[in-house]
Amino acid sequence: MSSSSITIDSHITPDATGDTVKLEIVRAMTTMPKMLSPKWLYDDRGSELFDQITRLVEYYPTEAERSILEDHAADIVAATGATTVIELGSGTSDKTRTLLDAFWADKTMERFVPFDVSEQTLVDAANMLAERYEGLDVHAVVGDFTRHLPQIPKEGHRMVAFLGSTIGNFHVEERRAFLGALADTLDEGEWLLLGLDLVKDVPRIIDAYHDPSGVSEAFALNVINVLNREFDGNLPVDQFVHVPYWDPVEERIDSRLRVTMPMLGRFEALDLDVAFNEGEELRIEVSTKFRDDKIEAELAEAGFAIEHFWKADGPTEDAPPDFGLILARRV
Ligand code: AVJ
Repeated sequence: MSSSSITIDSHITPDATGDTVKLEIVRAMTTMPKMLSPKWLYDDRGSELFDQITRLVEYYPTEAERSILEDHAADIVAATGATTVIELGSGTSDKTRTLLDAFWADKTMERFVPFDVSEQTLVDAANMLAERYEGLDVHAVVGDFTRHLPQIPKEGHRMVAFLGSTIGNFHVEERRAFLGALADTLDEGEWLLLGLDLVKDVPRIIDAYHDPSGVSEAFALNVINVLNREFDGNLPVDQFVHVPYWDPVEERIDSRLRVTMPMLGRFEALDLDVAFNEGEELRIEVSTKFRDDKIEAELAEAGFAIEHFWKADGPTEDAPPDFGLILARRV
């Protein structure tokens, strides 16, 4: 048995106060309304809290997607014949295991490329994967998938997996830009495997982002700790409350942190004072829920043809499906 190899490429400067990032945070804190990229949620602690979210009974997407992957992993292997599997926003690669097991059993997968913003999470995942799949080439990429898609390795016949409905985190224009950039990165005949949460009964959606145990709130509030640590800030985390509300027009959860009283803070590393009015909100994440016709049109516009659209059943017989998994080919 040949042993696995691990390589890690990093496209994120270890110095988080690099100019691009600095500008990004200054802009986030000075636009109206204040708005952060959701990637700031995923430091080591945030990644761990998200992992806990995926195990909550209220958070149905993880289990729903897992069940689709279990039912169709072999179909995905057969349809794509991919030799390189890339996973964007891979985290612990936990939910990808079913898929990787199926590729591994087929003996055609040569390389797995986990791509994530959290370096430590990637290192742990890469070690776990190299041990589980002896002989697999694990080529991890530390990066931001809104900026570093062109740096994805080119070797092999590729399938990019973007699971968990992470695509829901984009705003409409960002989603178009992302799908376009992904289509540019892939060659004709290569593949996209896309997991997406579907529009359904609103209370069921809200519960998934507002559990009684408070894990979702802790995950959201952690972003304040991240900013304070990265940019030498002093924003008092206990003066924020998490407000995940349903936007019926965009059909998405719009997650905000609201200050309970006027607040004046400072990020020393950015030489930036930040003022919040009473009740002002910092937008931290949107989680869009999809309808079939909408995502079909967006994929077609970007240059992807849908080959399969699998769905997980909802909680009752007359409920709409909970979650979708699309396999699309770059055309
Ligand atoms: C990992 C981005 C898909 O939007 O549902 C879970 C993150 N935020 N609970 C989502 C999340 C709050 C999750 N994604």
